[in-house]
Amino acid sequence: MSVAGERPRDSPGLEREFGPSALGTQEHWDAAYERELQIFQENGDAGEIWFGEESMTRLIRWMEKQKIPLDSSVLDIGTGNGVLLVELAKCGYTNLTGIDYSPSAIQLSQNIIEREGLSNIKLQVKDFLTPSSELSGFQICIDKGTFDAVSLNPDSAAEKRKQYVKSLCTVLKREGFFLITSCNWTKEELLNEFREGFEILEELPTPKFCFGGRIGNSVTALVFQRKK
Ligand SMILES: C[S@@+](CC[C@H](N)C(=O)[O-])C[C@H]1O[C@@H](n2cnc3c(N)ncnc32)[C@H](O)[C@@H]1O
Repeated sequence: MSVAGERPRDSPGLEREFGPSALGTQEHWDAAYERELQIFQENGDAGEIWFGEESMTRLIRWMEKQKIPLDSSVLDIGTGNGVLLVELAKCGYTNLTGIDYSPSAIQLSQNIIEREGLSNIKLQVKDFLTPSSELSGFQICIDKGTFDAVSLNPDSAAEKRKQYVKSLCTVLKREGFFLITSCNWTKEELLNEFREGFEILEELPTPKFCFGGRIGNSVTALVFQRKK
């Protein structure tokens, strides 16, 4: 989701701002999922899985390794087509919720979940930046590409990122886990963004690339725990 004109990922400044991008607007996602919904209706294709299948395997492997109980409440923030929820359900997780501010994303998720014969996944059209009290007490929150999208909002992205952290504190239980996958932020930057209220537990291994003699990661995947 990187955009032209941004500063390089290994830029030393922690207060990096991105140029405004359509990827940070709801209009963009509404149009994108409207198209994907149409394609699903035509040929059953579930559409794009952000960061690929391995990004889901990585998260699920971590949950299994930690022996996260299968009935733990899990919130997928900005679920898109909901395929991560489908994979979690197939692995036995039973208390799954997905939210997205795009109604067409939620409709697509609903269609895919029904096709897979899964009935107990909760879905809601919801802007994460304006959470309501009924969305709270989750033991696990997962974000795959949504904080990236929020960070590209053309309208006061810095404020929106702060609101994101506030919302996360509202929905995630104390000592709950937050698993984030990002292609726009480095580990150090994410540590800085979530420094208040969260501590890092683990960095999950992601593919490395070599460019100009330097080695870097194209995707960052971190597990945070909300402080007591
Ligand atoms: C890069 S896509 C990732 C979708 C999905 N998580 C995946 O991995 O395939 C970003 C998603 O975040 C959603 N999104 C962005 N800002 C949001 C917000 N403030 N509240 C809820 N959803 C949001 C978009 O509609 C989109 O579905």
